[in-house]
Order: sequence, then C-alpha cells, then structure tokens
Amino acid sequence: MDHRSEQLSPTILLVGASRGLGLAMAGAFVKKNWHVTGTVREDGRTELHNLADTCHGKVIIQQLDITEPDQIADLRTKLSGCAYNMLFVNAGTANRDQAETIAETSTEEFVRVMLTNALGVMRVVEHLQHLVRPGGLIGVMSSGQGSIASNEKGGHEGYRGSKAALNQYMRSYAARHVGDGRPLILMAPGWIRTELGGPEAPFSIEETIPELVETLIAQQSTPGLRFIDRHGGTVPW
Ligand SMILES: NC(=O)c1ccc[n+]([C@@H]2O[C@H](COP(=O)([O-])OP(=O)(O)OC[C@H]3O[C@@H](n4cnc5c(N)ncnc54)[C@H](OP(=O)(O)O)[C@@H]3O)[C@@H](O)[C@H]2O)c1
Repeated sequence: MDHRSEQLSPTILLVGASRGLGLAMAGAFVKKNWHVTGTVREDGRTELHNLADTCHGKVIIQQLDITEPDQIADLRTKLSGCAYNMLFVNAGTANRDQAETIAETSTEEFVRVMLTNALGVMRVVEHLQHLVRPGGLIGVMSSGQGSIASNEKGGHEGYRGSKAALNQYMRSYAARHVGDGRPLILMAPGWIRTELGGPEAPFSIEETIPELVETLIAQQSTPGLRFIDRHGGTVPW
C-alpha cells in the first residue's frame, strides 16, 4: 500500500518514525492533513503502528534500516512511481558514552555513529531523492552540535563530528544539484527530551515538534540549502 494515487493532501516520506522526534513529526504532519509514509527499522509493532491505527489511512508504514544499502534499494523499488512533497530523514543515533572524547571512542562505535548519522542518511537522500516531486523539499535531522562555529566547549565529540559530517555532505549534495530549485534543509531541532536527548533536556516533544513541522512546511517555497533551527532561524555552520 502507498500514497501513489492522486490525492489532495500533501505527502511526506519520513525516515525514522518509530519513536521520539520522528514519531511526533508523523503525528504533527497528520494534524496538518498531510499523508505520511513513515519508516521503522524493525519488523515488530511500534508506536507509529498505534498512530496509523487512529489515522484512517493517512499513515502508511514501510521498513528501513538506513545502514543497510539493500534495504534502501528495496524501498526505492517499492515506492517507485510515488511523488512526495517532502522527504525528511530523521533517523539518527548518539554515542553510547557521550562523555568520551573522540580519541577514547572505539573504532566500532565511531563507525556505528558515522554510518548511521552521516553515510546512512546521505545514502537515503541520494537514492530516494527522485521520489520527491520537482521543487519538493528534502530535509535531514542535523543538530546544533553539528555546528563547527558554535563548538566552544567540546563534549559529545563522536556525535558532533557525525552531524558536522552530515552538514558537509549535504553541502556537497547541494553543490552538485545547483539549479534543481529544491529547498534543502538541515534541521537543528534543539535539545529535546527523548531517549537520545535524555531526561535533562530543557524542552518537551509537545512544545517543539509542532513548531518544527510548521517551519518545514513554511520552507517549501524557498529553494537552496539552509541550516536552520526549529523556529526557522539560521544556525552558523
Ligand atoms: N533529542 C534531541 O535533543 C536531539 C537534538 C538534536 C538532534 N536530534 C536528532 O533528531 C533525530 C531523532 O532523535 P530522537 O531524539 O528522536 O532519538 P530517539 O528517540 O533515539 O529516536 C531515534 C530514531 O531513529 C531511528 N533510527 C536509529 N537508527 C536507525 C537506523 N539505522 N535505521 C533506521 N532508523 C534508525 C530509531 O529507530 P528504532 O526505534 O528502530 O531504534 C528512532 O526512530 C536524530 O537524528 C537525532 O540525532 C535529537
């Protein structure tokens, strides 16, 4: 099942929607009358399935682990012919030990975080971008911690590096697609209480994600690459 058929509502392909910010984004887009194709990594039931059950066909679920190129290829085949208004890759991970410096990080952990947050995200963008209709928006979840200019304290070094790498790869993507006319968004959502953000984060999902979704919707008419926060403000590179 997909949202291939002609419809009045706009459509988003939202990658990484099982829980946390991605799940909340799915709910907020549905509230705005969008149709959501959301991906989950595992086979089993997730909170996105609970949302889908209450949304009368507005949420469709696909399976994708962004670190598995074969799964990206399978999804590309499954969704061929779809034309989304927006592709947003939210999926991401953090280092298990946020306190370790980069040189203390094991090779395995470095590769896991970089593969998920930078390479996996960019593979999804590169391989699924043609499913976004001309002029449609492509966005990825970055982080304020990906800002090199704002890094005055260090900390969260593996994670910071992976989001800075993601920003750099999106700049390369944008440079290769000058003239496409698409809005390309790197979103820094703020520090929000989720499993990844932790309980100390100052903001709740409820007070942040509806505004983040409003901001993405408002960005649709402006082509070009931007690194922005959830209010639409520019984040320094
Ligand atoms: N929370 C914050 O304060 C904050 C701040 C800045 C940026 N961010 C970014 O926002 C995004 C969402 O974070 P969150 O706080 O909602 O984290 P979260 O609660 O840990 O959720 C992470 C999401 O990413 C998915 N995911 C992880 N690895 C994946 C993979 N290999 N393939 C597909 N999906 C995968 C997870 O799926 P599963 O359920 O299968 O694990 C889950 O849906 C991340 O990119 C994160 O870096 C968060």
